[in-house]
Amino acid sequence: MSNRTCLAIVLAAGEGTRMRSSLPKVLHRVAGRSLVAHVLHALRGAGGGQTAVVVGPDREDVAAEARREMPGAEIFVQRERRGTAHAVLAARAALEKGADDVLIVFGDTPLILPQTLAKLRQALADGAAVAVLGFKPADPTGYGRLVTQGSELLAIVEHADATEAQRAIALCNGGLMAFDGKQALSILDKIGNGNRKGEFYLTDAVAIARQMGLRAVALEVAEDEVSGINTKAQLAEAEAVTQRRLRQQAMEAGVTLVAPETVHLCIDTKFGKDVTVEPFVVFGAGVTVEDGATIRSFSHLQGALVGQSATVGPYARLRPGARLEADVHIGNFVEVKEALIEQGAKANHLAYIGDARVGAGSNIGAGTITCNYDGESKHRTDIGKGAFIGSNSSLVAPVTIGDGAYIGSGSVITANVPADALALGRGRQTVKEGWAQRLRNLKSLVKKKA
Ligand code: UD1
Ligand code: CA
Repeated sequence: MSNRTCLAIVLAAGEGTRMRSSLPKVLHRVAGRSLVAHVLHALRGAGGGQTAVVVGPDREDVAAEARREMPGAEIFVQRERRGTAHAVLAARAALEKGADDVLIVFGDTPLILPQTLAKLRQALADGAAVAVLGFKPADPTGYGRLVTQGSELLAIVEHADATEAQRAIALCNGGLMAFDGKQALSILDKIGNGNRKGEFYLTDAVAIARQMGLRAVALEVAEDEVSGINTKAQLAEAEAVTQRRLRQQAMEAGVTLVAPETVHLCIDTKFGKDVTVEPFVVFGAGVTVEDGATIRSFSHLQGALVGQSATVGPYARLRPGARLEADVHIGNFVEVKEALIEQGAKANHLAYIGDARVGAGSNIGAGTITCNYDGESKHRTDIGKGAFIGSNSSLVAPVTIGDGAYIGSGSVITANVPADALALGRGRQTVKEGWAQRLRNLKSLVKKKA
């Protein structure tokens, strides 16, 4: 198979009205990656070749997403949505160039694995003109049924067009197909639209191939891999399957997930060695956790780097641009955004650090806030090495705190503080001796008179 050329056609023109969303179906995300990008990723894993993506009219967003994931992809527009075979033929120019294998994959089938696509191609190498992926869903409603005789596939009948007896067939069409490139166009051009929906069904290719004296076969795969996403509930099921796969991969790579089913990962989450993740942690896109770090419960991380042996949480929030160097401690109810926290620095409780640098070994007291936003623009706070920021301080940016400086608790710091200085920015305390006792005496006098 290795020297057979391949053209993959990705159908992504569906509106996905049952998603009840203004976002096109294939741009919905699973584990942080769009459905169509998942499919393109799997194609790359299956050896690639030429890729054609069929999008709906004015769907520059889908085209851009496809090009982002696979820059070499050719984009074709299906002007009217007239069925899956009609969509494939929108890529006629790509089909005319010719390839040994033609793979048809749906943009709404994100769980497909590269090795399964490779198996479909192998069926062609073994002499089939059409190879189809079948599966046995718990609920077959809506899927095409595979009519088989022994190992031969005779036809696919769409749910809407099927008889009661055909609806009783458990083996359903996963939607993904492979065609012998020499026959593909002549088969596709024979497909008509004389069915209940008046659509050009790709699935008719099977019966047509057989009429032409060609072989068609079905390969059975697990439901997980081919279940197409049409609704938000199915999107959530795909997410669950992907999460299980990602957790499994993380644990195989040596990450300790104390309660794996409670950890939400992203397709691009990267872990070093000996990382521990406590229960109930959410990883958004773009997180790297280096060796020996611990992410404690109920933390939410996105676009963040957690350095070696750092600890985060419980209840911490790392937003995009948070970079924690080695041995940093970010504790409960601390939010970090677009900030470099240098080696060994600590912010253990209740703080907001945004648009800032915190120098190595510095200590950020409870309740410290970098006031980075003035209502119009963002400003930076630069804290040197070994500084001590007393609890409940407001650092009004732009502001610089020098190395080793000390900020008294409860300060509002609006001017730069030089290295090794003490800065206090708060009302001076006054004490009135005996004042409280005098108040109580006065109150009891008033009561007696009444
Ligand atoms: C299709 C199959 C069905 C199979 C099921 C598996 C056909 C006729 N039916 O049904 O046998 O069991 O998938 O999930 O193929 N698309 C276009 N343009 C169109 C129509 C569809 O690009 O004109 C794309 C959609 O974006 C989607 C894919 O083709 O990615 C499948 O279309 P969809 O309408 O979801 O087909 P199903 O009815 O689910
Ligand atoms: Ca579908």
